Amino acid sequence: MQILVTGGTGYIGSHTCVSLIEAGHSVIIADNLSNSRYEVVSIIEQITGQRVIFYEVDVTEEAAIAEIFSKHKIDGVIHFAGLKSVGESVEKPLLYYKNNLLSTMILTDACIKYGVNRFVFSSSATVYGENDVPFEESMTLKPTTNPYGETKVMSERILTDVVQSNPELGVMLLRYFNPVGAHESGLIGEAPNGIPNNLMPFVTQVAKGKLPKLHVFGDNYPTVDGTGVRDYIHVVDLAEGHVTAIEQVTRGVRIYNLGTGRGTSVLELVKTFEEANNIEVPYEIIERRLGDIASCYANVKKAKKELGWVAKRDLIAMCKDSWHFEKK
Ligand code: NAD
Ligand code: UD1
Repeated sequence: MQILVTGGTGYIGSHTCVSLIEAGHSVIIADNLSNSRYEVVSIIEQITGQRVIFYEVDVTEEAAIAEIFSKHKIDGVIHFAGLKSVGESVEKPLLYYKNNLLSTMILTDACIKYGVNRFVFSSSATVYGENDVPFEESMTLKPTTNPYGETKVMSERILTDVVQSNPELGVMLLRYFNPVGAHESGLIGEAPNGIPNNLMPFVTQVAKGKLPKLHVFGDNYPTVDGTGVRDYIHVVDLAEGHVTAIEQVTRGVRIYNLGTGRGTSVLELVKTFEEANNIEVPYEIIERRLGDIASCYANVKKAKKELGWVAKRDLIAMCKDSWHFEKK
């Protein structure tokens, strides 16, 4: 298939492009490079040995999207393009609602107009809010605490409504848990601008000496050691999950958790990182971060049963590959 990958030069998108090509598909990337670099296109080509078509476009621009759909025969869309910083979304809600919602609406509209019936959407475990773990797809969603989370809830709703009135369309809503790690080549990975918000990029920068120590946000949660528990998933497993999903789209809306089903605390992750890479990560416990929940991990039975997909790479591989990328 020929797949339009929006946000394809970003962290998860770039790994997914590699996995799609390795599975025999071809990709067209549409990205405005607001949080990624043009060089990623040639790195994907270098890793896979295949040409990639790239459009530097904002996917909220209807005319630019129409041009891509009219020029190419597109079999499916994987929509990663979006803004993802929780803190920034609180400061600039309109930017987030505009970017993340318009993009979803304009792309689905184009799919309907051009008869493209496969659509995979990047949702997030954040839509579960403060439910009891493990999170299951059938749970009633609880409110999220920020505009970023709301853009995911609203996008899921928009897509569900659009499918209702366009029964030909097939949509997969993929709820990711915490993607970490990098491609084994060390050539693509997560390279956030400025001081990282997320745990793993912070840990790798401390290990490298770019930052003096990790601040652990709270040790009084009701968890194994008091620190926050998350379901870390290797980004290559996540990428492979997208290949499976786009290949298995059927009419209607289907929702899947993409995680490992295992929870890991902050201190467990730090310890595994130190042991896997034989390097020290100094840390200090400080107060909780506003908006954080104690535990977040997936029930992954549905994806296994219906898609035949499971995450294969363990936390040691995640820590090694994250460190390999940071060093490179
Ligand atoms: P990323 O920032 O690395 O990638 C997103 C890409 O989209 C970037 O290359 C950016 O330049 C591009 N982009 C943003 N707005 C655009 C627009 N209007 N037009 C064209 N391109 C645009 O982020 P990521 O971690 O790869 O996340 C991909 C998707 O997965 C996002 O929708 C994110 O919300 C979702 N998600 C990510 C995580 C995570 O932890 N990384 C967790 C859950 C969900
Ligand atoms: C964050 C976002 C979430 C988003 C996800 C993936 C917030 C409140 N939530 O979730 O919406 O979907 O990233 O991009 O930002 N931690 C530290 N020190 C740090 C960084 C993190 O102790 O410097 C802890 C956190 O408290 C948490 C765990 O590490 O317990 C993971 O944090 P993080 O990587 O930011 O992911 P989430 O909080 O799950």
